[in-house]
Amino acid sequence: MRKIRIGVVGAGNISTSAHLPAYAEYDGAEVVAIADISEERAKAAAEKFGIPKYYTSVEAMLDNEDIEAVDICVWNNGHAPVAIEAAKRGKHVMCEKPLAMNLEHAIEMEKAIKQSGVRFLLAVPGRFRAENMKARELYEEGAFGDVYYGKTAYIRRRGTPTGWFTDQKTSGGGPVVDIGVHRIDAAWYIMGCPKPTRVSAATSYKIGDYQTLGVSKWQGTPCPDNQFDTEDMGAGAIHFENGAVLIFEASWAINGPDHQDTQVCGSKGGVILEPLTFYGENEEGYLKTEEIKVEQPHSPTYNEIAHFCDCIREDKETKFPIEQAVQLQQILQGIYDSAKLGKEVVL
Ligand SMILES: NC(=O)c1ccc[n+]([C@@H]2O[C@H](COP(=O)([O-])OP(=O)(O)OC[C@H]3O[C@@H](n4cnc5c(N)ncnc54)[C@H](O)[C@@H]3O)[C@@H](O)[C@H]2O)c1
Repeated sequence: MRKIRIGVVGAGNISTSAHLPAYAEYDGAEVVAIADISEERAKAAAEKFGIPKYYTSVEAMLDNEDIEAVDICVWNNGHAPVAIEAAKRGKHVMCEKPLAMNLEHAIEMEKAIKQSGVRFLLAVPGRFRAENMKARELYEEGAFGDVYYGKTAYIRRRGTPTGWFTDQKTSGGGPVVDIGVHRIDAAWYIMGCPKPTRVSAATSYKIGDYQTLGVSKWQGTPCPDNQFDTEDMGAGAIHFENGAVLIFEASWAINGPDHQDTQVCGSKGGVILEPLTFYGENEEGYLKTEEIKVEQPHSPTYNEIAHFCDCIREDKETKFPIEQAVQLQQILQGIYDSAKLGKEVVL
């Protein structure tokens, strides 16, 4: 198998806890360089993972290294500039979620990627999780019939990440784009990715920068002039061209129970992901509830990286191409626009 020469951009948490360990395990790629605006973090990651070169800018890395693809693991405000720079130089792009700060940036990314004809994958690991893949397979086999309803939630009672995540100018939003995006995409994927048409949503900031004791937080690095000016909770309804609707909830902090749920319902059957269970009727006409066991030999991030490299080697479309990533961004934009305007928005 030809090894794909990767340049990783970002040496923070997701890079060093998920992407770099997955490359270390995977035979089909070689991380030839890493870039981070923090020299200390770039150097530490290069030493830990045996990466030959490190840089403090993506431009310097692309000027000096023979790289085929970039893997973008930087703050959300860096996704569009890094992806556009890489695409212009003919590099394939894998980019962490959310795609961009807003729809405008997402469309600029799409333009650059299409103009250069490179491959693109939005890195949402849920698409590579065994349960979600099995549920999507059931959708494709027609096991759910006509899918018309979904419900999804990622609720943390107290779980606001620190650092740049709460800073609007760096993150583009709070729990909706940080964790809600995982569950919204999980449901949307299993619903067959229908075209979004309308959104009605609300966001709030009621608990904010809590001082609750005995709780843990994902440690994001601080960004310049770090604020807490995003929402801490969001909820609403996303409508699709085929008449289906998806209800979502996302919170970093709420006075309610922690939970993650995804449910998709069709005319013949339905599914929940936690745990993966099919709801329908059996051949004799009785109700059927079947918990489905699946194997997950590798982490979702390993599967994601292997898939991205296969798509480059075999010159085939990825499972989360730029057009679909832009549609997901349209949903996120619709949520914020609707919340701001206090009414339903047409996408
Ligand atoms: N897939 C998941 O489940 C998951 C989980 C957490 C974070 N993420 C995503 O991963 C990305 C990074 O999050 P994190 O938790 O690793 O944050 P982090 O703060 O730990 O790391 C980000 C790193 O990017 C660097 N950086 C920022 N802008 C840069 C630029 N323009 N060029 C080079 N380096 C730059 C920072 O110095 C920092 O070291 C975000 O987009 C986030 O949404 C995904």
